[in-house]
Amino acid sequence: KKVLFSGMQATGTLTLGNYLGALKNWVTLSDEYECFYSVVDLHSITVRQNPAELRKRARNLLTLYIAAGLNPEKNCIYYQSHVSGHAELSWILNCFTYMGELNRMTQFKDKSAKHADNINAGLFTYPVLMAADILLYQADVVPVGIDQMQHLEITRDIAQRFNGIYGDVFTIPEAYIGKSGAKIMSLQNPDKKMSKSDENPNASVYLMDDPDTVMRKFKRAVTDSEGCICYREEQPGIKNLLDIYCACNGLTPEQAVKEFDGRGYGELKMAVGEAVVSVLKPVQDRFAELSKDKAYIDGIIKENAEKANYYATKTLRKVQKKVGFPERV
Ligand code: TYM
Repeated sequence: KKVLFSGMQATGTLTLGNYLGALKNWVTLSDEYECFYSVVDLHSITVRQNPAELRKRARNLLTLYIAAGLNPEKNCIYYQSHVSGHAELSWILNCFTYMGELNRMTQFKDKSAKHADNINAGLFTYPVLMAADILLYQADVVPVGIDQMQHLEITRDIAQRFNGIYGDVFTIPEAYIGKSGAKIMSLQNPDKKMSKSDENPNASVYLMDDPDTVMRKFKRAVTDSEGCICYREEQPGIKNLLDIYCACNGLTPEQAVKEFDGRGYGELKMAVGEAVVSVLKPVQDRFAELSKDKAYIDGIIKENAEKANYYATKTLRKVQKKVGFPERV
């Protein structure tokens, strides 16, 4: 079986963008690949966190992976911080990554503008840790939203550079971008990505929003004055609504446009809201059930950390040998 790796940060509340852009595809691909899904808590501390809050969010996120439909008996669902290989490989890869490459990362530029009081070295080398995550498991495929493409490209560059020096050590990973939902935009400003950290609560639909809240947010979604339900760049608000609709229902934009032919924006908003509710509701219900079962989740955490450690150590030992560290006797 080919290997799949992906991860999410336990920072803030997950949005519909995280779900449609990533998590939903993870579930679709999970039978086909040997999967590793990580709660990337090492990445989270590149911005200041409240410790108790981070711990709680990480646990909720891990539970949510299962609630969304991943099978923890088959897929390895674990905390990044429980597998020390991530940090160890990350250090080695730091020595094969150029400052100039990291300087070009748009996410670093965005984040350092936003957290000007805490532009730490971890924020700068964030993509190297992400490369380590992926390469540690020799992943073939990495399902992500469009905003992570640049990080995937640097991962490939680092892997190729390393292989160029030491021979075929790492599998070169490919990004998997879903047909729809790979870039969900803000409902209040469709030129901007839907994000966990938006100050306007109406801009993002959260995974845990109840049906009334979801419907209200869609009713208030910003559209335009064209009066045409068309899928085109000139109508970013409508395009975003159609994208969400397609991602929820597995339709192509052409099919969706046809379905709404001759209908108004109000109807579109209602239909999209309902589609989102019917996708989120079962996940929320399962999450509530699973959260009650502490022993079950604890068991998953322990078993899967061991499994992840096993695979991670295999790659790490190989890499350590290649770069010239003494063998363990
Ligand atoms: P994060 O936690 O910001 O986002 C998790 C996933 O959600 C996707 N996403 C979106 N997709 C569509 N529309 C949106 N508006 C939207 N917002 C977020 C992201 O593309 C991502 O797939 N650096 C990563 C986490 C990470 C990782 C990895 C991912 C660490 N190591 C290794 C893959 C492989 C991040 O911060 O994602």
